[in-house]
Amino acid sequence: MALVRILDNDQTLSDRSAISAHLARCGIDYEQWQPSHSVDSDAPAEEILAAYDKEIDQLRARGGYVTADVIDVNPETPGLDAMLAKFRREHWHDEDEVRFIIAGHGLFHIHSEEQPVIAIEVEAGDLIRVPRGTWHWFDLCADRRIRAIRLFQDLAGWTPHYTESGVDESFLPVCFGASFIPRTSAG
Ligand SMILES: [Fe+2]
Repeated sequence: MALVRILDNDQTLSDRSAISAHLARCGIDYEQWQPSHSVDSDAPAEEILAAYDKEIDQLRARGGYVTADVIDVNPETPGLDAMLAKFRREHWHDEDEVRFIIAGHGLFHIHSEEQPVIAIEVEAGDLIRVPRGTWHWFDLCADRRIRAIRLFQDLAGWTPHYTESGVDESFLPVCFGASFIPRTSAG
């Protein structure tokens, strides 16, 4: 289950319906795929995609996505810091950012027009869709590990466009799940 924090008033949402309702107000789709499949989180990508074939097909039909793959990031991933540096600055895409988390954790910040900035910590079982054009940024948590199914309409649309608003600099990438030590720098 994701955790959502509304940063202006330090409010944390951990109830599923409250999370979905607030994320909808911010323009973000959130679901959990239940029941989860019994595929090992370390299984080859083809096995992961095969296990979630039905759910992926449903998403494809809803969003017009043509490609699905599995991204696998861990502390030993070459160029990890350079990769993170691209995505921890506020940006938007011409493409929806759709992730179903298989393992690890991730921290999305969403800067919508209508609502205060929120932080969404995702974990295994969470599906998040950040629609194209949404201002957001992303970081890993202390485990520096995420494995996720990604869906794309057009890979070319996933290039980040930076807002340069500076808003992202006001928020530390702190994961607030019980088992994580808050980070004190942007790393
Ligand atoms: Fe992004």
